[in-house]
Amino acid sequence: GLPEYVKIVEVGPRDGLQNEKVIVPTDIKIEFINQLSQTGLSVIEVTSFVSSKWIPQMADHTEVMKGIRQYPGIRYPVLTPNLQGFHRAVAAGATEVSVFGAASESFSKKNINCSIEESMEKFEEVVKSARHMNIPARGYVSCALGCPYEGNITPQKVTEVSKRLYGMGCYEISLGDTIGVGTPGSMKKILESVMKEIPPRALAVHCHDTYGQALANILTALQMGINVVDSAVSGLGGCPYAKGASGNVATEDLIYMLNGLGLNTGVNLYKVMEAGDFICKAVNKTTNSKVAQASFSA
Ligand code: HMG
Ligand code: MG
Repeated sequence: GLPEYVKIVEVGPRDGLQNEKVIVPTDIKIEFINQLSQTGLSVIEVTSFVSSKWIPQMADHTEVMKGIRQYPGIRYPVLTPNLQGFHRAVAAGATEVSVFGAASESFSKKNINCSIEESMEKFEEVVKSARHMNIPARGYVSCALGCPYEGNITPQKVTEVSKRLYGMGCYEISLGDTIGVGTPGSMKKILESVMKEIPPRALAVHCHDTYGQALANILTALQMGINVVDSAVSGLGGCPYAKGASGNVATEDLIYMLNGLGLNTGVNLYKVMEAGDFICKAVNKTTNSKVAQASFSA
């Protein structure tokens, strides 16, 4: 059956803004994150401690991290690909980090400039240092449902990378449909394989909505016992190293579906829509959330 409570991991400030052509001013990002902290969300991914040559949109990571108000009971993870990023993140006040690997060799090279094996060695150092400092580490597996360069990725490969991240101490593994090509069919296959090695309570799904399958894929995952879902306000998002990747599933649309299923999220849909409206106006975009579109035109 379905879980009673679903934890939403809001990735809008990171996944959402890393792919915007316009670089969003730091004070707007800070205001956006502070607004999200008022919605009932318990996890808000703030920024990435990556190279500003690679992702100029996240170059202000330290200022954003230092500028936001961190509320008790809310976690503010940041992306850290290596020790250099980890140390900078901690110095800026991060108390949770995420390493981000891939189930595709080509994507790993394009995204973080190293092989899967090399990335795992770097992540092991990060997770080990994090553990010594009592900092929880999350692990992403990109291309879990398909790769922009290699196409199909086998369930075996996704399971192998997930198991490696879980084994090194990542408390939660987020399976990323980076380019949104998955369907409920492929989601079921991947989860069946990964769940042989990792308990469902330690898994999350991260669905981009490129092919319009995100909510269906998420529902499939919920039915299989997953109760952590990543999403981005207004359906912002995409990865610069995954051409054609459109936004994440919109947090508003996810909450609307979960509310309709009678599942508890603790998040106020109206307040999320307000935060979405704020960031869309700031980046001069119309929202990708169907729920926000319907509500604001009503
Ligand atoms: P590299 O060039 O291979 O690194 O980059 P390097 O170790 O050879 O160092 C080269 C330069 O980078 C040096 O600077 C380092 O100091 C610097 P220089 O001497 O040339 O001035 N450097 C760093 N600077 C800041 N922060 C760091 C850092 N590390 C080295 N942490 C690196 C390797 C991983 C840094 C680079 O490839 C990079 O930044 N990639 C960007 C990756 C990224 O952010 N991608 C988007 C997020 S992933 C995603 O969106 C998918 C996800 O949403 C899930 C899904 O949808 O599937 C999570
Ligand atoms: Mg993503």
